[in-house]
Amino acid sequence: MSYSIAVLPGDGIGPETISATLGVLDATASAFGFAYEIERFAFGGNAIDSDGDPFPASTRAGVRAADAVLKGAIGGPKWDDGAVRPEMGLLALRAHLDVFCNVRPVRRWTTRTSSPLKPELAEGIDMVILRELTGGLYFGTKELDADHGLDTCAYTRAEVERIARRGFELARTRRGLLCSVDKQNVLSSSKLWRRVVLELASEYPDVELSHQLVDSMAMKLVEQPAAYDVIVTENMFGDILSDLAASIGGGIGLAPSSSVSGSGPGLYEAIHGSAPDIAGSGRANPTATILSAAMMLRDLGESTAADAVERTIIRLLETGPVTPDLGGDATTESFGAAVAAAVPNAADEVVAR
Ligand SMILES: NC(=O)c1ccc[n+]([C@@H]2O[C@H](COP(=O)([O-])OP(=O)(O)OC[C@H]3O[C@@H](n4cnc5c(N)ncnc54)[C@H](O)[C@@H]3O)[C@@H](O)[C@H]2O)c1
Repeated sequence: MSYSIAVLPGDGIGPETISATLGVLDATASAFGFAYEIERFAFGGNAIDSDGDPFPASTRAGVRAADAVLKGAIGGPKWDDGAVRPEMGLLALRAHLDVFCNVRPVRRWTTRTSSPLKPELAEGIDMVILRELTGGLYFGTKELDADHGLDTCAYTRAEVERIARRGFELARTRRGLLCSVDKQNVLSSSKLWRRVVLELASEYPDVELSHQLVDSMAMKLVEQPAAYDVIVTENMFGDILSDLAASIGGGIGLAPSSSVSGSGPGLYEAIHGSAPDIAGSGRANPTATILSAAMMLRDLGESTAADAVERTIIRLLETGPVTPDLGGDATTESFGAAVAAAVPNAADEVVAR
């Protein structure tokens, strides 16, 4: 098979982590016998510089035509005070691809973790947060003047139903536990959310459904993170909780994501930002972007290759030189090169089995 991949290198550490990831992709394609073509597009701050628009027309057309979109982080202080901000491009990209389901796996990838939790609490963390990505506060009506700011959080039954179904279906393939997070004691959009999730539950009797208010969920994620399997929640709650979960799982440099709609190309990106504080220093951990590329390979149908990349990462995080966020002195480039060099061994293991 051959795939077309639109690559949006981004800003700050984005191009560095993407470069390391493309090296891994190259080695994986050779080892597992698939082909791909990449085309790079301006997006984010660099696109504001080149086109005056964080999501220019050429990028809009390019991502639509691709089988998958691999994105580096965007943004940075250079664009913080401009009338047009890089994040506007990100919201427009998600809406353009209608990728309503953001999948954020959180695992304890390594014991050489930067998790602030005690090891006994971090032990066994293995959850997936499904964050609704194209509705809620970030997409509602906005108003801003000198004395007044307004954001609107609106959800429709159809929007809740399609993401909740993803939650039930994913839970079925895992430990069978689904926790729906809302704020139904206060918000109308959350009352609708809980009602729709409850109605769907009868169609999934094999899934054990629980509900949690978002504030107590933040507490429980810290106190007993290993208890959670699949979590489904709305856009802003998911944004906040998944950063918290990434941190307790082992650090933001290890947290991948995919954003999918079920039809059309998926979007694959690390959940971290462009880390201006370390950009250009070679200190960025490319693991989150490499793991996002592994999620991309799985969605494209190359699951054996995806498993091999994940296995390689787990082995190297445990035994090899790691980047400074995990206490080592490997560079973005050297860690990526080590993964690329080791992936063919994982392919040999598959053949030997
Ligand atoms: N999807 C995206 O592109 C995205 C997501 C979040 C933030 N941002 C943007 O990124 C910029 C910086 O945001 P921020 O500082 O709040 O968050 P950040 O995630 O960029 O950085 C937070 C901290 O984590 C560290 N860090 C992040 N990724 C790392 C990695 N791969 N390896 C090692 N350390 C890493 C950084 O050095 C920093 O100390 C802002 O402009 C923000 O809008 C973009």
